[in-house]
Amino acid sequence: MEFPKLKNDLLLRALKGETVERPPVWMMRQAGRFLPDYMVLREKYTFFERCETPHLVSEITTMPIWQVGSDAAILFCDILVVPMAMGYHVDMVPGVGPRLPRTVKTLADAEAIVVPDVDIALGYVMEGIKQTRMDLKGEVPLIGFAGAPWTLLCYMVQGKGSKDFSEAKKFCFEQPEAARVLLQKITDTTIAYMKAQIKAGAQAFQLFDSWAGLLSPDDFMEFSYPYLKQIVAECTVPNILFAKGSWYALEELKATGANGIGLDWAVTPEMARKVLGHDVTIQGNFDPSRLYAPIPKIEQWTKEMIDRFGKDRYIVNLGHGILPDVPVDHARAFINAVKNYS
Ligand code: CP3
Repeated sequence: MEFPKLKNDLLLRALKGETVERPPVWMMRQAGRFLPDYMVLREKYTFFERCETPHLVSEITTMPIWQVGSDAAILFCDILVVPMAMGYHVDMVPGVGPRLPRTVKTLADAEAIVVPDVDIALGYVMEGIKQTRMDLKGEVPLIGFAGAPWTLLCYMVQGKGSKDFSEAKKFCFEQPEAARVLLQKITDTTIAYMKAQIKAGAQAFQLFDSWAGLLSPDDFMEFSYPYLKQIVAECTVPNILFAKGSWYALEELKATGANGIGLDWAVTPEMARKVLGHDVTIQGNFDPSRLYAPIPKIEQWTKEMIDRFGKDRYIVNLGHGILPDVPVDHARAFINAVKNYS
């Protein structure tokens, strides 16, 4: 398929390490969380209806581009479509979050999982990507994404969100062989899924390891890192690794060869640059709660953050997803502060 030619390539250039006029900016979870027009669609369709309908995927994905001016679009979908494709159904309960009626409990459960044909099981995602690429008209690049194996294991074992994912960790320590089998099956599915997204039109790719910070450094090296490494090695577009809370493993994350390392707000720019250096792109790390502050403060903090990370090899973002009740003009002020940076 021929897509419109890309006009704003700041994100791709920043990931390749090229010198830029100013850093690119986008916000994690910008698609489908804080925009009033999304809330309208939310009343009309269930969560997975929104994910499975290409014209809705495109409408939600492009909304923050037209309405707040982000330099990149992130596909509207969810990390939990991968467990679904692997045979573990997910209910997205409004106001509660994800619930998996059946969870992985034993080695036999893990061994019984069949790595799916992603073009069949997740074909709707690829259709959504193609529709979105057409509708973006080359304004900004489209980022595809997936959840990291450790983070997906958390949901597939625990069956719902949790502060500590203690059931998931118990599974890993009681049945390490079962954990390894499950993590490898998630990895194999994710690699195929990532390649299919890229083939369909994803121009960059982010891997979300949202619960990396729940692991000790040693356990991260056992239950997360080897799988992140395999996925990054198979990625053929500029990519970003966001392992929330894993500031203890920055050197290892860099060693995966990822083009960009996403940071949460628990790390100073100085510490991050000291460990990561200037030969890898850093993304982050504005505390999403700071978007509740008065606009002049948001502008000041954003400028200071860019000064401290440096304008090159840097992508401005939040340290985690934007919060649902952030005023739209505050999000826009954050984006514009980057666009006006000099
Ligand atoms: O970044 C984007 O805007 C693209 C879309 C996106 C969604 N989920 C849509 C969504 C992305 C990148 C995700 C990733 C995701 N999903 C993660 C990793 C990133 C992170 O925030 O740590 C995780 C852990 C999930 C799992 C998940 N999905 C949870 C825990 C929940 C419920 C709580 C919540 O965040 O709202 C979801 C639901 C979900 N995923 C919604 C959206 C827009 C809200 C459902 C709704 O609007 O009806």
